[in-house]
Amino acid sequence: AKAIKAKISQLAEHRSKRVRVFGWVHRLRQQKDITFVTLRDGTGYLQVVLSGRVNQTYHALTLTLESTVELVGMLQVVPEGKTAPGGHELIVDHWQLVGAAPGAEDAFTNRLNEKTNPSIQADLRHLVLRGETASAVLRLRAALLAAFRQTFVKHSTIEVTPPCLVQTMVEGGATLFKLDYYGQPAFLTQSSQLYLETCLPSLGDVFCVQESFRAENSHTRRHLSEYTHLEAELGFINFDDLMTHIEAVICESVDILLADPSFAALIKQLNPKFQPPARPFLRLSYVDAITWLNEHGIKRPEEDKDGNAIKDENGKDIMVEHAVGDDIAEAAERQMTDIIGKPVFLYGFPAELKAFYMKRMPKKEGSNAVFTESCDLLMPNVGEIVGGSMRISDYDELITAYKREGMDPSTYYWYTDQRKYGTCEHGGYGLGVERLLAWLADRYTVRECSLYPRWPERATP
Ligand code: 4AD
Ligand code: MG
Repeated sequence: AKAIKAKISQLAEHRSKRVRVFGWVHRLRQQKDITFVTLRDGTGYLQVVLSGRVNQTYHALTLTLESTVELVGMLQVVPEGKTAPGGHELIVDHWQLVGAAPGAEDAFTNRLNEKTNPSIQADLRHLVLRGETASAVLRLRAALLAAFRQTFVKHSTIEVTPPCLVQTMVEGGATLFKLDYYGQPAFLTQSSQLYLETCLPSLGDVFCVQESFRAENSHTRRHLSEYTHLEAELGFINFDDLMTHIEAVICESVDILLADPSFAALIKQLNPKFQPPARPFLRLSYVDAITWLNEHGIKRPEEDKDGNAIKDENGKDIMVEHAVGDDIAEAAERQMTDIIGKPVFLYGFPAELKAFYMKRMPKKEGSNAVFTESCDLLMPNVGEIVGGSMRISDYDELITAYKREGMDPSTYYWYTDQRKYGTCEHGGYGLGVERLLAWLADRYTVRECSLYPRWPERATP
């Protein structure tokens, strides 16, 4: 009978039939009369048996890891008591070598293993990706993005693709990558937010999945120079609606993954203890968070007026209590999230710590402090995964905000026009896809959650 050509993930529907599969030799165990291969084709793994005549060829005797092969044979359910991926194995009656891989044994098992120096692992990222863990993370990433898109469709939110090459900034000049654009200065985008806001009168609620770039000299486990930014913007909402929406989009997307057996298995493989978070998420105001940090003895390094940490005589940072107005640094934020142990919305940050476009809360009586309708969503093990806010919807107020920051509003006419021609209360957020994935898949660093991660000193391969 003619063999059915199939991917490994499709084989369950072809049991007890002759099939033809293509792939890479992922594992190899050669015995005197029989060779066991675990075949990999990107969609899954397949146990393969070569015995008798097909095991006595020159190619069978010299087969190595990572060689590519074409295999034809009967797909058999594995006998009771034995296990194999998918519960079946291929008994090969005909096969051929597609591409030999001499030296792969050395490259993969000797040069590349868990103990390999991280910088060599980064150089060999193209080979690391063939591993079971790295490829599982990427498969989960693809499923996650698909789940988000499905969730946004359900919420009548339309996908747009804003430009990466821009001439305006969103999140401050310090982290812009500058480049020469036909003799004009231009930047790589930090956030597509401003473009999304301009889409509201045209398309209603919108979202995008776009690369964002940050020239931050950060070597932390959660900073990349280029990351995938999932951003959304919603019209005719209030601040409470915004947080409820963020929570819904994340939880519904995670539920979509968990409802699919193969994606649920990926989560289980990478993060065996994963539990979907309970809703509603805890909401903690910035001011209450400062109190919480002080009650829990979590301090911050004392800084001089230039923002440099002040050292004691032993060269150690002098630690002091947090006060309202302080930025909550990554270390403190992480300690807090890990103690709380579940997702937390931190909201209501002081205006001077936040971007120019954020809507301000009314001042409290007897206080001059100005807080914003802004929120960060913090996840255990990672910290901030989402930053969002309501936006200034009044034209004059927005122009004042530009002036306060010393920015020229005229180059932003396309953005400020949104307030001139039919404004509305609106807000949105940006979610770091690698950070969400680090939480979901329990990865130590976002570098594991990006195909080819970029950080200072690394833009290759
Ligand atoms: O908090 P951020 O800077 O907010 C904005 O860019 C807003 N304009 C988004 C919006 O309202 N549309 O960035 C949003 C998220 C962060 O919470 C974080 O998850 C991620 O983007 N992020 C990074 N991820 C990896 N590496 C970096 N260097 C990141 N910087 C921000
Ligand atoms: Mg932020």
